[in-house]
Amino acid sequence: MPALAATLPVYLDHHATTPCDPRVVAAMVPHLSETYGNASSRSHAFGWAAEAAVEQARDQVAALLGCTPKEICFTSGATEADNLALFGVAAANGARGRHLVSVCTEHKAVLEPLDALRQRGFEVTRLPVDADGLVTAEQIEAALRPDTLLVSVMAANNEIGTLAPLADIGRLCKARGVLFHSDAAQAAGHVPLDVEALGLDLVSLSAHKIYGPKGIGALYVRRRNPMVRLAPQQLGGGHERGRRAGTLPVHQIVGLGEAARIAREEGAAEAARLAGLRDTLLDRLRADLPDLRVNGSLSQRLPNNLNVSFPGVEGEALLMALRDFALSSGAACTSATLEPSHVLRALGVPSDLAHASLRFGLGRGNTLAHVEQVAAATVAAVRRLRALREPWAPATESSPHLPETKPTPSL
Ligand SMILES: Cc1ncc(COP(=O)(O)O)c(C=O)c1O
Repeated sequence: MPALAATLPVYLDHHATTPCDPRVVAAMVPHLSETYGNASSRSHAFGWAAEAAVEQARDQVAALLGCTPKEICFTSGATEADNLALFGVAAANGARGRHLVSVCTEHKAVLEPLDALRQRGFEVTRLPVDADGLVTAEQIEAALRPDTLLVSVMAANNEIGTLAPLADIGRLCKARGVLFHSDAAQAAGHVPLDVEALGLDLVSLSAHKIYGPKGIGALYVRRRNPMVRLAPQQLGGGHERGRRAGTLPVHQIVGLGEAARIAREEGAAEAARLAGLRDTLLDRLRADLPDLRVNGSLSQRLPNNLNVSFPGVEGEALLMALRDFALSSGAACTSATLEPSHVLRALGVPSDLAHASLRFGLGRGNTLAHVEQVAAATVAAVRRLRALREPWAPATESSPHLPETKPTPSL
């Protein structure tokens, strides 16, 4: 039996951002008008209450990552956490080594600080990925040098959802005495992420990717074995143990804490549910459009991500045809430009197929009805667009005019 039709529009862009969980909103509101003290005010009850709320949130975020609360530094989001990790480590440890290793499919919040560090005299090795979007610990090992200071590898890719072999890379970095940073904006709260098990020294995360508010995130900074030395990038009051100055946004921090609590308690069950919906979505699309190409490994992947190219259509036209569904044709941060995404290019996806890609990002509010509706609408839109295109009419999925495609990545 088909599921009940969903009310339109349907939100399927959970890699771009997620709605605040009502429990998060409920936790935040009292801190706007009741517990409104400055968490740094040590001389009265308003300040103490705000500080207590901040420290509870710090405990909740630490519990999500398996670290101690003192190792959590609140930031304005993952962008700032990435900048603080990279510039902060480089500034404090530049005398120890001036070589950094990362991957070409990283988010711009890592790539651009690395470019800036290169201009300041650091050497940066940007490793390629394979056709499935994966990088291996062996590649990292081959890139390490005696002067390598830090390796930065994202936990989960924001476009294609691929997961990096963090435990292998962490073991390698520990053995070689190299610091290991991961941008986990898309992974924290969605897949298990224990900093001890994975050998991580620095981790960036963002509340608005886990049903918390926008404008708040955190950087995990290891304090033992080794203690990571970090130069603050924002001065003016010594907040956050001197790592990041500025009055703490208590309500935002409380929202991040509550979002982390919910993710820790409910994340595993939700991930299993979303993986089921994602697999159903792919099955439905493939049944009617067998020539689609899945971008990125299906086995090493976030449970809620599907990134697919449809040969013979334009991604932007497809998005317009599917405007009842909030989807993306590449990273939200770069969708203002029509450049093929740097991630799909790194996988070797031909430009026409990169332009013909859609990212489905499933989330907490999505149901089987949403999946069935978007699958049916996508199939209809792809067929219609193919029929409109010369020399596609009448379109068939096995048309000899299909652009050359690479083999579908391993399932
Ligand atoms: C992998 C990754 N890193 C960093 C960011 C930036 O996070 P924020 O919006 O919290 O600055 C994003 C958000 O798009 C992301 O997906």
